[in-house]
Amino acid sequence: MTEYILEAYNLEFSYLDGTKALKGLNIRIEKGKKIALVGNNGAGKTTLFLHFNGVHRPNKGEIRFKGEVINYYRKQMKELRKSVGIVFQDPDNQLFSASVYQDVSFGPVNMGWPEKVVREKIEQALRKTNTWSIKDKPTHFLSHGQKKRVAIAGILAMEPEVIILDEPTAGLDPIGTAQMMTLLDEFNQNGATVILSSHDLDQVYAWADIVFVINRGKIIAEGSPEEIFRNEEIMQQANLIKPWALDIFDYLTAKGIIKRTGITPRNRRELKILLD
Ligand SMILES: Nc1ncnc2c1ncn2[C@@H]1O[C@H](COP(=O)(O)OP(=O)(O)O)[C@@H](O)[C@H]1O
Ligand SMILES: [Mg+2]
Repeated sequence: MTEYILEAYNLEFSYLDGTKALKGLNIRIEKGKKIALVGNNGAGKTTLFLHFNGVHRPNKGEIRFKGEVINYYRKQMKELRKSVGIVFQDPDNQLFSASVYQDVSFGPVNMGWPEKVVREKIEQALRKTNTWSIKDKPTHFLSHGQKKRVAIAGILAMEPEVIILDEPTAGLDPIGTAQMMTLLDEFNQNGATVILSSHDLDQVYAWADIVFVINRGKIIAEGSPEEIFRNEEIMQQANLIKPWALDIFDYLTAKGIIKRTGITPRNRRELKILLD
């Protein structure tokens, strides 16, 4: 049976100025998967993410974590914030301590773990995110990419079961983006459910197990990357552009230049292998 780690049903949420950001949204996130959420600016991605760890509370509908309805009581919120880590789009909204080390230590220190464990978790998180060498730097001197990695380290150090990243590669250079995706794969291989939003559909296509499309505060489609990005109606409705690897592959097979074998290439390396 499929195990869902996060579920939301009929979620409605309005901001104080009256903007209806979520309009009866339904979503179920399968445990242990690599999940991507795609959709226009303003579609509701960030708003949804902030519901998943209790920052926002819905006006209507319910959210479940591991099958249990979130009731917003203190004890449960503490558990939820520990288990569902969010990396904000803008690291300047996440980093607030003087040094990198201090920033990453904030979460683990508040977990009530023994000091030795705390130190170990911090070091592991800094090493995994390749920020150990800058641990004594003031956070405001870091580059955007470094800040992003430190923000991730801070979440990682708490060992959440679910890691949510709001546009994690926005503003990163190509190498930074590739490293980020490798890091996210590692989290996932270690058992975490990884959820991200992104406008880079080539990258989503190459990386995700499951893609959700959000449009005007609702999930309008869910499926494998191939299913979603071949669904012209959905793509048009959400103003998405077909990933180039899939587009070229479909073009080449339609022309009879390569045969369909059941394998769909997800990136340039896989496409080249097929062409060879
Ligand atoms: N703090 C806020 N106050 C008022 N409206 C907001 C606020 N944050 C977001 N919105 C609005 O809510 C809708 C959804 O925004 P958001 O969740 O940020 O979308 P996305 O992350 O997909 O770009 C948009 O119409 C946006 O303008
Ligand atoms: Mg957003």
